[in-house]
Amino acid sequence: MYQVYVRSFADANGDGVGDLAGVRDRLPYLRDLGVDALWFSPWYPSPLADWGYDIADYRSIDPAFGTLDEAEQLIAEARALGIRTIVDIVPNHVSDQHPWFRSALASPAGSPERERFWFRPGAAPDGELPPNGWQSIFGGPAWTRTDDAGVPGEWYLHLFAPEQPDLNWTHPDVWAEHEDVLRFWFDRGAAGVRIDSAALLVKDPHLAEETPQYGAGEHPFTDRDGLHDIYRRWRAIADGYPEPRVLVGEVWLPDPDRLARYLRPDELHTAFNFDFLGCPWDASALRTSIDTTLALHEPVKAPATWVLSNHDVDRHVSRYGRDDTSFSLQARNHSQPVDLERGTRRARAAVLLTMALPGSVYVYQGEELGLWEVEDIPAALRQDPIWHRTGGADPGRDGSRVPLPWSGLEPPFGFSPPAARTEPWLPQPKEWRDLTVEIETGDPDSMLELYRAALRIRRAEPGLGDGPMSWLPATSGVLAFERGGGLRCVANLSDGPVDLPAAAAVVLASGPLADGRLPADTAVWLRAAPGGS
Ligand code: NOJ
Repeated sequence: MYQVYVRSFADANGDGVGDLAGVRDRLPYLRDLGVDALWFSPWYPSPLADWGYDIADYRSIDPAFGTLDEAEQLIAEARALGIRTIVDIVPNHVSDQHPWFRSALASPAGSPERERFWFRPGAAPDGELPPNGWQSIFGGPAWTRTDDAGVPGEWYLHLFAPEQPDLNWTHPDVWAEHEDVLRFWFDRGAAGVRIDSAALLVKDPHLAEETPQYGAGEHPFTDRDGLHDIYRRWRAIADGYPEPRVLVGEVWLPDPDRLARYLRPDELHTAFNFDFLGCPWDASALRTSIDTTLALHEPVKAPATWVLSNHDVDRHVSRYGRDDTSFSLQARNHSQPVDLERGTRRARAAVLLTMALPGSVYVYQGEELGLWEVEDIPAALRQDPIWHRTGGADPGRDGSRVPLPWSGLEPPFGFSPPAARTEPWLPQPKEWRDLTVEIETGDPDSMLELYRAALRIRRAEPGLGDGPMSWLPATSGVLAFERGGGLRCVANLSDGPVDLPAAAAVVLASGPLADGRLPADTAVWLRAAPGGS
């Protein structure tokens, strides 16, 4: 699955912003890369308070990207190349410019229009304090006070930015509207949906304060049991199509048993594996994460997913080049030195490790080029609300969203056409001239050719698909396992070279071997010789 962040993929009309025409032009690139499906981050009209995750109209396309007609053509053209399309659905909140919220603001306290959201009077005698102490995930209080014609009025809930009011999922209109939106996209050929913030929709109706400890399902706005009724309903809709549609959840939950509940046979098909993404570059931590992942998926018979990067996290070349290679959204930190050479070597090994595991793999646009997190974007050019709402304390996500380099020796590196007068919406580092698609194509040592080769082999080898994996004995710091058809993956996360089994042929390596030994931060796919060990 290849994640397309349209704004940063390819700009066909020269306005510095990626668009659907740019994606359509590059479909052959995606076919040649070897992907099965595209997941598009939101492409709907949006005032861009959260760069598309604040949706004003769920049934059309942002004019900066193109038209609905073009989206339908894109879906059909991709399908003709054997590539399916997954669209992003954001059910927790809408844009403050969405017609429902505009009419709620224009209507009085207690009106039916306001019941689709969480409007409440403020606390304290004059209502000047928020209804409770919930904090926004983007920083600051999760409540904003309305202004009723100059008179301070009720407060409304927003778990993200104030421009993203939370919907009230106890309201039947909210259910009906989303079911209709699902059908709208499924009827246009979308093969499935990625569900944004999928564990946040249902709130405690009493808006209880957060406390340090919770029983399962008792947090006031995360992972509440009522969510599962919503997803059962959505699954019935998805299964109602002759070619059933797929539901992919963005579910950030630390408890694997709670995560597994979303993947029961009548709910979501898959969920992103954020535990694996946040795992440090450490053999024992990764092995535990892999085992936990497979164990949680087994009883519900859902396919595991493997994710290294997306549009919300620091690109993994940079993460793996730091001293602390772990990642969490709560502790994003750009003040650590980054060894890009080491990070790149590890990223190459990581992709072979990941693509040898059973389940589906998500590739975030640009990771196939070895792009790193751009940490030095000037403050004046920063766009992410996280950066703005935390006063720069959290550097935010702009660094993972910088437009892709396609060709040429200078920005915009073919992202925009040569005649473009506008610069890309985020600045590209000049060093990316060495990481363009043009430069990497045909270079056997490039990240791009490694991804192409790995995806080609993964597609051709039935043993790398679904099915069991078994760990092989290995020295400390080394991960070694076998898949079907005698294929093995060995990843060396230790500090020095290790021996490889003698009677095995190398199918693909993330870097050169040294005298037949596997160097540090290198991975290899091997085929065991018949009778070999
Ligand atoms: C998760 C999305 O991936 C992120 O980009 C967005 O800001 C939040 N959900 C809110 O929609």
